[in-house]
Amino acid sequence: MNIRCETLTDYPAIAEVNTLAFGQENEAKLVEVIRPCDGYIPELSLVAEIEGVVVGHILFSYIDLVGEQTLQILGLAPLAVRPEFQRQGIGSALMKAGLEIADSKKETIVIVLGHPEFYTRFGFQPSVVYGIESPFPVPEEFFMVKPLQSYQESYKGKVVYPPAFDAM
Ligand SMILES: CC(C)(COP(=O)(O)OP(=O)(O)OC[C@H]1O[C@@H](n2cnc3c(N)ncnc32)[C@H](O)[C@@H]1OP(=O)(O)O)[C@@H](O)C(=O)NCCC(=O)NCCS
Repeated sequence: MNIRCETLTDYPAIAEVNTLAFGQENEAKLVEVIRPCDGYIPELSLVAEIEGVVVGHILFSYIDLVGEQTLQILGLAPLAVRPEFQRQGIGSALMKAGLEIADSKKETIVIVLGHPEFYTRFGFQPSVVYGIESPFPVPEEFFMVKPLQSYQESYKGKVVYPPAFDAM
């Protein structure tokens, strides 16, 4: 398996991976809506490929943490692996690669809304632990934060997603 940044020619395969993994088109559309936005980070849209075929995709993009100041932080969404390739370590490999790149870019925090069983193994914890408030009315264990090496304790507030996420 090879993990690399997405290129223009990957776009259809990425859309297919997301549609198959989620069983709906919302996440594939989200990726397409984020790409032209300011929050899009080309080096943090990664694909996993096996023998030249894209089997997984992860996207981190900028969202806001609004506290005493507004801080740009990373939102992780979506993460998808083709159904027939799931539970083989591909999602974990994409996550680790993404977190390493984010750390190397001196990003501070990653936010995710998802399954605690999956994300806690990468160091995500409920956002309330860090004084970070979710914009969604979800049980607090589903809205998680991973502080990166450049995180500082003063980073608190409410997460605000850009309009690209409105349809989710
Ligand atoms: C979630 C997803 C990205 C994980 O990718 P993956 O390649 O299957 O994950 P890995 O093989 O690296 O799995 C790592 C561990 O997470 C667990 N895991 C995987 N998916 C899980 C899920 N949906 N809920 C809970 N645990 C899960 C696996 O059991 C595995 O643990 P194990 O190796 O000890 O058995 C993939 O299953 C997927 O695309 N699911 C559909 C879309 C989705 O739900 N995306 C995430 C949105 S929160």
